Amino acid sequence: MTFRLADRIVRLPEQFFSGLTRRVAAFQSQGYDVINLGQGNPDLPTPPHIVEALREAVLDPATHRYPPFRGLPELKEAAADFYRRTYGVKLDPEREVAILVGGKTGLVEVAELYLEPGDVALVPDPGYPDYLSGIALAGAKPYPLPITASNGYVPDLESVPESVWERAKVWYINYPNNPTGAGVTTSFFEQAIAKAHRHGVLIVHDFAYGAIGYDDHRPPSFMQVEGARETGIEIYTLSKTFNMAGWRVAFAVGNPQVIEHINLIQDHYYVSIFSAVQRASVAALRGPDDGIESLRQTYQRRRDAFLGALRSAGMDVPAPLGSFFCWIPLPSGASSVAFAEALLEEAHVAVAPGRGFGEHGEGHVRVGLLAPEDRLIEAAERMARFWATRF
Ligand SMILES: Cc1ncc(COP(=O)(O)O)c(C=O)c1O
Repeated sequence: MTFRLADRIVRLPEQFFSGLTRRVAAFQSQGYDVINLGQGNPDLPTPPHIVEALREAVLDPATHRYPPFRGLPELKEAAADFYRRTYGVKLDPEREVAILVGGKTGLVEVAELYLEPGDVALVPDPGYPDYLSGIALAGAKPYPLPITASNGYVPDLESVPESVWERAKVWYINYPNNPTGAGVTTSFFEQAIAKAHRHGVLIVHDFAYGAIGYDDHRPPSFMQVEGARETGIEIYTLSKTFNMAGWRVAFAVGNPQVIEHINLIQDHYYVSIFSAVQRASVAALRGPDDGIESLRQTYQRRRDAFLGALRSAGMDVPAPLGSFFCWIPLPSGASSVAFAEALLEEAHVAVAPGRGFGEHGEGHVRVGLLAPEDRLIEAAERMARFWATRF
């Protein structure tokens, strides 16, 4: 028998980075000391009080049963309280918070909920590749908004044709930005809300790196801006703030109708998340919050160590404002894929080629600050030596 895949699955974009992952594993299995900075997987453990909360919850047989369809009310309350403490934003836990099986799932669900074939979704270019997955499943078309150094890594909204605004239904925004490390102030959100309101576009602000801002930059929440609740939602994941990437917990906040629709589609996909994981997530969101600040400081020290080592070796690279990524421009005309492959082969440092994040990512590579400082310094030194042989 042969099984023909449905067209919507055939349309899914290829996983650009899976080849890199395989090559890193191949070098490691040959015994090379590879420094892998190519992925976005936090290397530090989940704080012990959260792990302990999970352990206790697992021992309670009440968590072994189906959880409520739309998640534990106390988790939604904890999420609302986290937003009140952190951003001064008041949320109704029942109407304005939806529990997600990781942020990635929420990003795809929104596309499934609102996009019809022929519709348009606005995406940052370069941007997190998974925005394209939901758009492809829905049979809609992505419209890339270039974010480059020349426009301060924010899209030029005036350059988007009226015909595109008319067909646009969903708009993915992401600051602190993966892959560029750029940040914005609330004035960008104000402009985006004005545009979205005029054209009836739903904003989905992906706030995955909300906890990671450098120097004086404290990333603002989209929800702090007037009109946010009318025009969109924000997705907040526990993956990065609490080093819980493997736990698969996130939540969406904002427009009550969208929150209801997310819950509706999830009623058909899941019976929420394992209750014990939800209870541990309550422990994460209830605090104490000092672990979040110490994580931010860890990434700040790593960023400074990595960039400092590059600078000492003669490579001056722009510093990110947020996220745990450095976005490194290559000399003009250099291919990011060829550079990343040669760097892995010759210097045994893995980085992500910018082309994988969109056409405007070409000419850059992304470095994840996901190793201890001494390894990052070693990676910077290897990179600089390699760079000197090439350019
Ligand atoms: C920009 C961005 N959004 C969303 C996610 C998804 O996070 P998760 O599915 O772990 O919540 C990631 C993960 O790397 C990310 O970089």
